[in-house]
Amino acid sequence: MLEVSGLTKGFGSGANRLEVLKGIDLKLKSGELVAMMGPSGCGKSTLLNIIGGLLAADSGTIDLEGRKYGLKGPSSVVDVRRHKVGWIFQDFHLLDHLSALDNVAIALDISGIPSDESEKRAADALSKVGLDDRIDHLPDQLSGGQQQRVAIARAIAGDRPLLLADEPTGNLDIASGNEILELFKELCHDETNPISILLVTHDPNLASKADRMLLLKDGKTSDSDIYSAWGDAIRGEEE
Ligand SMILES: Nc1ncnc2c1ncn2[C@@H]1O[C@H](COP(=O)(O)OP(=O)(O)O)[C@@H](O)[C@H]1O
Ligand SMILES: [Mg+2]
Repeated sequence: MLEVSGLTKGFGSGANRLEVLKGIDLKLKSGELVAMMGPSGCGKSTLLNIIGGLLAADSGTIDLEGRKYGLKGPSSVVDVRRHKVGWIFQDFHLLDHLSALDNVAIALDISGIPSDESEKRAADALSKVGLDDRIDHLPDQLSGGQQQRVAIARAIAGDRPLLLADEPTGNLDIASGNEILELFKELCHDETNPISILLVTHDPNLASKADRMLLLKDGKTSDSDIYSAWGDAIRGEEE
């Protein structure tokens, strides 16, 4: 469903030029949960930003369910951001004064869905992430794991086929992180409505539970197994 080919991206110019991505090739199938690891500063967030239509690459292509992009600026990929890609961040990005239901519904309202329809879809999404009994709670009445579930409900509510999760368990304890990973697997492996998730994580234990692992290092991605990912994660921390 996603194919990235020969993607490159650098920042700055002249002596300050930094080539971050040096020819990324990766593929995700529908229904696949893929974990990406790599040392701090190696370009993981940069790659997600390009796939998510927030940043233009210097060269290369992205094909997401037939929609081709990669080199155009953010204003040319509004449709990708609105309809194809959902985001999950480390720090949840919920609105403090809105209930769980409204946090999810507001994202749908903004995309032009009538408010009673968006409430219904928001309630369905919250039910999918196991929060039926928390829809009227404010974020600070929820645990970290529950807040991240609200953010996941918001990301899936618009029927987006690809979720990009940038260190989504970084602020959670181990048990809550594991629960989020199990939820990701359920969402990907749902036979009636499978999605795909590209998950950036520093945690080799979580990464090893994904369907597949990738390592981003020296500007390139490669398939990885738990042992090399572990070694690179440790070297990354030492930098
Ligand atoms: N907008 C930018 N301008 C200049 N340098 C950037 C910018 N965004 C990221 N970088 C640099 O690109 C490199 C990769 O960053 P990033 O993708 O955030 O890494 P990661 O998510 O793997 O930690 C870092 O050296 C960072 O400083
Ligand atoms: Mg990052």
